[in-house]
Amino acid sequence: MTVPTASLPLPPGPVGLPLVGSALHFIGPFGRSPHAVLTRLAGTYGPIVSFRPGTAGDFVAVSSPAAAREALVDNDAALAARFVPDVARARAHSSESLLFLPSSSDLWRQHRAAVGAHLSAGRGLLDGARRVRDRHARGLAARVRARSGAPVKVGEAVLGAVLDVVSGTLFSEDVVGARVRGDHGQPFEDLVAAVLADWTRPNVSDAFPFLAPLDLLGARRRVSRGLTTLYEFLDDEFIERRLAGGVNRSRGDLLDAVLARHAKAELTRSEMTKFFTDIFLATSNTSRITVEWAMALLFKHRDKMEKVQAELAASLGSKDFVEELDLDELPYLRAVVKETLRLQPPAPLLPRMVVADGVSLGGFSVPMGTCVLVNLWAIGRDPTAWPRPEEFVPERFLGDEAADFRGSMDFAYRPFGAGRRMCPGLDFATRLVPLLLASILHKVEWRLPDGMAPEDVDLKDRYSMVLELAEPLRAVPVVSTP
Ligand code: HEM
Repeated sequence: MTVPTASLPLPPGPVGLPLVGSALHFIGPFGRSPHAVLTRLAGTYGPIVSFRPGTAGDFVAVSSPAAAREALVDNDAALAARFVPDVARARAHSSESLLFLPSSSDLWRQHRAAVGAHLSAGRGLLDGARRVRDRHARGLAARVRARSGAPVKVGEAVLGAVLDVVSGTLFSEDVVGARVRGDHGQPFEDLVAAVLADWTRPNVSDAFPFLAPLDLLGARRRVSRGLTTLYEFLDDEFIERRLAGGVNRSRGDLLDAVLARHAKAELTRSEMTKFFTDIFLATSNTSRITVEWAMALLFKHRDKMEKVQAELAASLGSKDFVEELDLDELPYLRAVVKETLRLQPPAPLLPRMVVADGVSLGGFSVPMGTCVLVNLWAIGRDPTAWPRPEEFVPERFLGDEAADFRGSMDFAYRPFGAGRRMCPGLDFATRLVPLLLASILHKVEWRLPDGMAPEDVDLKDRYSMVLELAEPLRAVPVVSTP
């Protein structure tokens, strides 16, 4: 609500030390779990907590469904800019980026409209690209089955399929295995993984911006090199080749739509390249992490793993590979994905910057320039909203198809965010993630490596803008020959 806020107090929070503020709360092991630190602080100070992690300015963490609603709906317009981490300034990426431009920017609006028009449910491209998703899900299943008896890094295998699906949807071409120029011609997927690793690693430049010019961890330099290679690759391999194709170039994909805007001088070449880069970056980690977490949780809860596989066997029978249309008949599998996103939302802290005066949350003043972090991790475990909040219970999402990601459960469940900056890939992700999970579970018996028992599965998480498993999941697919 926008009211005169001069007389309102600031939100309560830990008293900071000179210079370092409340940074001590976030170093060492705590630095790996700021979502959990902020949840604990909410237990002490209430659902709206202010803190200063260094000299980067004021932060406010919001950790209850009601406070999240106030931030993301009542104050949607005032909180519609993003915190820009130092690495995102490499190659001036953030200044032309869908991920980081404020929502007042024309370019941001145009990009959002393009993604909405092409990747939302019921719109041509998303439905039309179903075959792309089915093909790569089948490819993933085949690759996993071919490794029968040998340990597989689950996240790595899934990332390849995600990148190919995105590339197939954007450019109508596969991308995994394609060699990029420079860096010894590394495969595209390794380049994306390397950029994401630096992009998401906590960086001292963000807590202490006066140190940013020194780039002490070298993250901005490495991201800059990676982005240069990525831009060149996307530009040469897809944009340039399609432009050179003349009249035969039209494929009806997102690249065609973007090139049409370029032809009308609505988009520069650099804006196009950054747009595609953003889609790869936004899609790859989130979708891969969700499948990896779901598998880890299923390993830990063997009975639920058996239940999903029984559902797959009953529904698909002797059919060898899962297809997207089969998902309608797999409610338990869809519930597993929903429960995974509740417990381990890949983007647990939504970073929004306050861009207007007079903003208040819960009766506290939140001045312009404050970064508001909406703690989805805390909200998904709020004991007033969820019975047995810490337990993995996919069954809670069965029955009336509760929780559709768009607010049917109000703000207790918003793994894709809310408001004008809500994830534009929701429909894409909610088709792709269950499909990939089903594909690796169907007709494969999964075992843990090295004699591990389910209780040995390590579910510790590690925050790095996204919420990773601290120990990447390794597991052994076993296919019994018919
Ligand atoms: C399981 C998969 C995914 C999850 C959990 C997820 C979650 C999120 C969340 C929480 C946000 C921030 C929303 C907010 O601030 O309110 C976001 C933003 C975004 N997501 Fe996703 N996402 C996923 C997959 C995807 C996919 C497949 C795409 C590709 C189209 C995508 C594209 C984006 C973009 C471009 C943004 C930035 C939007 C903006 O700032 O205007 N995401 N996502």
